[in-house]
Amino acid sequence: MKSKYILVTGGLGYIGSHTTIALIDKGYKVCIIDNLSNSSIDVLKRIKKITNISPDFFEFDLTDASNAKTFFKKNNKFDGVIHFAAKKSVDESVIKPLDYYYNNIQSLINLLENINTDVKFIFSSSCTVYGQAEKLPITETAPLKKPESPYGNTKKICENILEDKTKIETKLSTVILRYFNPIGAHPSGLIGEDPRNVPQNLVPIITQFAIGKLKKFAVFGDDYPTRDGTCIRDYISIMDLADAHISALEYLFSNKKNNIYNVFNVGTGEGKSVKEVIDSFNKVSGKNLQYDVRPRRKGDVISAFADISKAKKILNWASKVSFDDAVLSAWNWEQNK
Ligand code: UD1
Repeated sequence: MKSKYILVTGGLGYIGSHTTIALIDKGYKVCIIDNLSNSSIDVLKRIKKITNISPDFFEFDLTDASNAKTFFKKNNKFDGVIHFAAKKSVDESVIKPLDYYYNNIQSLINLLENINTDVKFIFSSSCTVYGQAEKLPITETAPLKKPESPYGNTKKICENILEDKTKIETKLSTVILRYFNPIGAHPSGLIGEDPRNVPQNLVPIITQFAIGKLKKFAVFGDDYPTRDGTCIRDYISIMDLADAHISALEYLFSNKKNNIYNVFNVGTGEGKSVKEVIDSFNKVSGKNLQYDVRPRRKGDVISAFADISKAKKILNWASKVSFDDAVLSAWNWEQNK
């Protein structure tokens, strides 16, 4: 049987590269579009080293309508698309809101205007759309809050665009994946999270601090109403997260209906506090991190973890990698890169 051809936008980024490998491992043919704004061409070589296969690769910016038009005129044989290409810094989005609205929304519009409308579409969203949920664990039906940042708002707007477009295209099917907190790296140690600038998320901050790249590390607030006073999040292994995209594609490809719109949480279902993340890191690395406690970070939610029963039931997907193993993989990557 001919392999299905999947377009992965932002395929050289953190989640995109791991998902590309998972797709190739499952026998899919992959085409990557990436503008290299927060990724490196070296990742393409590493994907080849891990899989022995070179995905098709096109370097361009999807916000450029004429580039998109030219590309899709020549290349429009895709069975599926996984759209990762987006800016993702919460802080930067507050300082440069227009950059974020333009980049994240325009690229989706250009994609939807040019790609075949009988495609299976997976969109990379975030639990940030829930804000501080009233009920925990968070189900997909929890009311969406006004996002704290322009970045979060672009995720919500892109979900809305896809919902509206899917309503009018009788052969378009869309799955929205709302990721909780992705951590860790591929077991080969060849690819992982590699932010161009100073990392903003907890686990890469911890690993960079432990190796000496960052001089300071602080816990933002230990007076929250949680079991140890620090915030709680649902940290999901990047390997499990990559697999969720395969499960979502398989769900769409195997479904008799060809006009689906569905939303799934992708997390472990279990919350860990900031202190528990540090304890896990100390355990797997043999270190004993010395940190300060600083005031609460503006915009932080107290506690967020996913109800993953919908993904389990409908996508037949659940996380497999243990929390400690995911933290260890992040540490191995930090030492290898
Ligand atoms: C952040 C983003 C969210 C995005 C997600 C992607 C904010 C407000 N939200 O979420 O939109 O989808 O990343 O993974 O930035 N912490 C420390 N010290 C540090 C860094 C973090 O104590 O130096 C704490 C934070 O206060 C938080 C937890 O660690 O309680 C996790 O932080 P982070 O990795 O930034 O993730 P989120 O806040 O969940």
